[in-house]
Amino acid sequence: MNKGTVAWESPSNIALIKYWGKKGRQYPCNPSVSMTLKNAVSRTCLSFTERNQEWLTFEFEGKNVGAFENRIQNFLEELKDELSFINDYTFHIKSENTFPHSTGIASSASAMSSLAMCLCSMQEQVTGKKYEKDEFLKKASYIARLGSGSASRSIYGSYATWGKSNAFSKASSDYATPFSKYVHPIFKDYQDFILIVSSEKKKVSSTVGHSLMKHHPFAEARYDQAHDNFERMLGILRSGDLNGFIEVLENEALSLHGLMMNSNPSFTLLKPNTLLAIELIRDYRETTKTPIGFTLDAGPNIHLMFPKNELSVVNKFVDEELKHLLENGRYLKDETGLGPKQIM
Ligand code: PMV
Repeated sequence: MNKGTVAWESPSNIALIKYWGKKGRQYPCNPSVSMTLKNAVSRTCLSFTERNQEWLTFEFEGKNVGAFENRIQNFLEELKDELSFINDYTFHIKSENTFPHSTGIASSASAMSSLAMCLCSMQEQVTGKKYEKDEFLKKASYIARLGSGSASRSIYGSYATWGKSNAFSKASSDYATPFSKYVHPIFKDYQDFILIVSSEKKKVSSTVGHSLMKHHPFAEARYDQAHDNFERMLGILRSGDLNGFIEVLENEALSLHGLMMNSNPSFTLLKPNTLLAIELIRDYRETTKTPIGFTLDAGPNIHLMFPKNELSVVNKFVDEELKHLLENGRYLKDETGLGPKQIM
């Protein structure tokens, strides 16, 4: 086939155990595990025709964004060993997000995973060979990883691990591994409210962030900690231990930011209101015994995580006690999602 169109929708994910530090061709220095989101998704549509001179156009939300196009171009050029057909085609790619820009939601995870799914569908069309479903997902996760490490995990719904570990024999550093079938029912419809403290553009890209770990004085200690936390977290996801979940979740979030603060150069991504909100969340948990906990990505916004049966009390708590700390009082409601969906 020498022309066609494919499209996929793929979600973002929130890391419970963080990937921070990489080596070689986008391999993680420690294992990670994340929850796949439901509402925060990217939709990517890829049309291909026989190659001509201008072989790539990329539109993000109707506009040509040079920086994104360069990243996609490099990504596609680097895939010539994995997807050799790429050199024979011209690509017209359009992508959009359902969530607002710069809200601390990892858009590279949803964008790169949706593009990886499109490329694997395209491969099936141009070669006429269909993959078994598991093989398709594994390949897509491998390709997504090369675009953005965290994107490898978005290929699977519910929960997914990425990075080799003795604690989970199926885990690999090449691609993510689904973890959903081991998860306790309390985590199956877990909630994540993304509290927007600031939508300012990040001061440090994740590429720079990962590279800061190269000469970080605490790097080895961090990788040991991440291995321990990963093993604990998998046990917690299986058993449904909410207190343990919160303890490890928050330890990971603050460790990530600790590493940024004491690296050279140093970055402080937390805002005063992030810290005020964290204190209020911890006080509320202490006094009401509601099992809410927070995590953070590489930014100032808070992911407030809790079981679905606490939805109405947490809604009230956020509206009454946290909203005034948020930019324009804004927060996004999300929850555990099912993973990518083919839309064309
Ligand atoms: O996938 P990247 O290179 O954008 O890095 C993601 C880093 C964190 O979001 C901070 C952690 C993670 O595991 O998702």
